[in-house]
Amino acid sequence: MNSAAKTLNETKHYKTEVDPQKLGESIVEVSFVGRSNVGKSSLINAICQKKNMAHSSQTPGKTRTINVYEVTRGRWIIDLPGYGYAVGLKTEKDKLGKIIEDYLHARGNLSMVFIIVDAVAGPTTLDMVMFDWLEHYSLPFRIVVNKIDKIKVSQLQERKRQIVTQLAVDPSEIFWVSSEKKAGIADLQKEIAQLLQI
Ligand code: GTP
Ligand code: MG
Repeated sequence: MNSAAKTLNETKHYKTEVDPQKLGESIVEVSFVGRSNVGKSSLINAICQKKNMAHSSQTPGKTRTINVYEVTRGRWIIDLPGYGYAVGLKTEKDKLGKIIEDYLHARGNLSMVFIIVDAVAGPTTLDMVMFDWLEHYSLPFRIVVNKIDKIKVSQLQERKRQIVTQLAVDPSEIFWVSSEKKAGIADLQKEIAQLLQI
């Protein structure tokens, strides 16, 4: 186990909030956004080598609150509600979008937003809206493509090429991962350890 992984394994659930204004101050934090069911919570578990610290589920819309995980004092990993959750009242959907926006506007010590994209679905319209929004507000972000285990090995190169073209970025800018198979997790652990200065 590398030293980043070791420290990340110390992570504990710290608090659950619905109101971003009540989160309190971190020293430094990174957060995970993406559409519902893309695997944000699973990815946080994989990074911290936990079974079900962040609750994941096959039912989209599992995470409806802001969940703070503390690696060491004041150094946070944040699991946000998913966007684009189709079922439920319209007002509920709007409220989820608002939680994410309010959170992103409120955080002075936010050092990186990881946007998780589904390897099979590719970047959705809402993902593109999120990229534009983050760029507009000059928030730092990195793209993580999750569930690469769902792509046949023989098709993976071509799928990567397609996603990279759609996103108009360099392939090296993307983390290609599978939280289920724990592929690509070590690079993400190192990146997060650097960002959180742990
Ligand atoms: P919300 O909380 O609803 O926004 O979803 P989420 O983005 O937190 O997704 P979650 O981690 O709950 O995972 C959703 C489903 O995808 C679960 O059934 C996971 O087991 C599955 N999943 C997550 N990561 C992977 C992966 O890398 N590969 C595969 N095959 N399935 C995955
Ligand atoms: Mg979740």
